[in-house]
Amino acid sequence: MSYNTIGHLFRVTTWGESHGPSIGCVIDGCPPGIALAAEEIQAFLDKRRPGQSRFTTQRREPDAVRILSGVFQDDAGRQVTTGTPISLIIDNVDQRGRDYTDIKDKFRPGHADFTYWQKYGIRDYRGGGRSSARETAMRVAAGAVARKVIPSVTIRGALVQIGRHRIDRSRWNWEEVGNNPFFSPDAGIVETWTSYLDEVRKAGSSVGAVIEIVAEGTPAGWGAPIYGKVDQDLAGAMMSINAVKGVEIGAGMAAAELTGEDNADEIRMGNDGRPQFLSNNAGGILGGISTGQPIVARFAVKPTSSILTPRRTIDRFGHDADISTKGRHDPCVGIRAVPVGEAMMAIVLADHCLRHRGQVGPGP
Ligand SMILES: Cc1cc2nc3c(=O)[nH]c(=O)nc-3n(C[C@H](O)[C@H](O)[C@H](O)COP(=O)(O)O)c2cc1C
Repeated sequence: MSYNTIGHLFRVTTWGESHGPSIGCVIDGCPPGIALAAEEIQAFLDKRRPGQSRFTTQRREPDAVRILSGVFQDDAGRQVTTGTPISLIIDNVDQRGRDYTDIKDKFRPGHADFTYWQKYGIRDYRGGGRSSARETAMRVAAGAVARKVIPSVTIRGALVQIGRHRIDRSRWNWEEVGNNPFFSPDAGIVETWTSYLDEVRKAGSSVGAVIEIVAEGTPAGWGAPIYGKVDQDLAGAMMSINAVKGVEIGAGMAAAELTGEDNADEIRMGNDGRPQFLSNNAGGILGGISTGQPIVARFAVKPTSSILTPRRTIDRFGHDADISTKGRHDPCVGIRAVPVGEAMMAIVLADHCLRHRGQVGPGP
């Protein structure tokens, strides 16, 4: 009813608000015996952490995670999961509620202020409360645990478009993603994005972006017909990320322009005796079930709604008003959405791995 949980067997429930004392999550259904240290989770949180460049919010949050439950020392002295709920917590340390007193009675156009007020009749206006992307830190933490459930799967993400400026896909190099503040796989676009985002930032404005997430090493067979398709669950998971307005799998919307000959991924027997697809327009999923090819999901985020430019709105008393947001914000939320998208892919695939195992067993 209250929808703070994702997953069927690998279940993640997040809690907390942007300016509350802390945020956290409970992961229920994680198998026992998986080595898990806080540092492994921290490494992924550090990729999403705010304030790492001038292109992300200047809120200073160390995002130091603690594991409160669900782990114990095994006979070899390793800290492993026990099969009981894993509870993770991060303290908020750089809240500045006063940044938001100007907007406490007004609704920011494009934000969730209006709808939360309409639904609940009360809202934590500080930084957007529960609707803030602060919550996505816990998705990243849970995603780090999910990755450990499916160690054979490598999940990577990249930013492929900011505003109208797209990467050149022929220059795609995963090694580049860690070398620039945008998670760009194309070193050639970094200068363009830098000057463009500087302009946007100095104007107090914001801009949208497209993120691509790729999972390699998924075996054929995960997923389910008819209402438990991997692509269906991925679309829901990606769409649940704040500011996401579009999701594609494989060729996505562009499939509408392809012919049947161009779109269908032909198959041959590879030299290793295994089936080999000659293209991947399906994005690694057919009939809701993984093909063994890379699973490819793409999503678009809208421009950040809290901007410095005055906008027209109303207040909760029914009066017209003007609003501009003084709080710190990301000029392009797409940058920090990259690790969040990776985490959602990991959570969905870990869940499907366990669901597959539950129905058909571990396989040969
Ligand atoms: C990583 C990340 C950071 C975000 N930071 C901000 C922000 O600083 N200011 C803002 O207005 N929205 C920000 N957003 C988007 C809002 O959280 C989101 O637009 C809002 O909750 C309304 O939900 P919706 O856009 O999904 O409809 C961010 C989103 C992401 C993914």
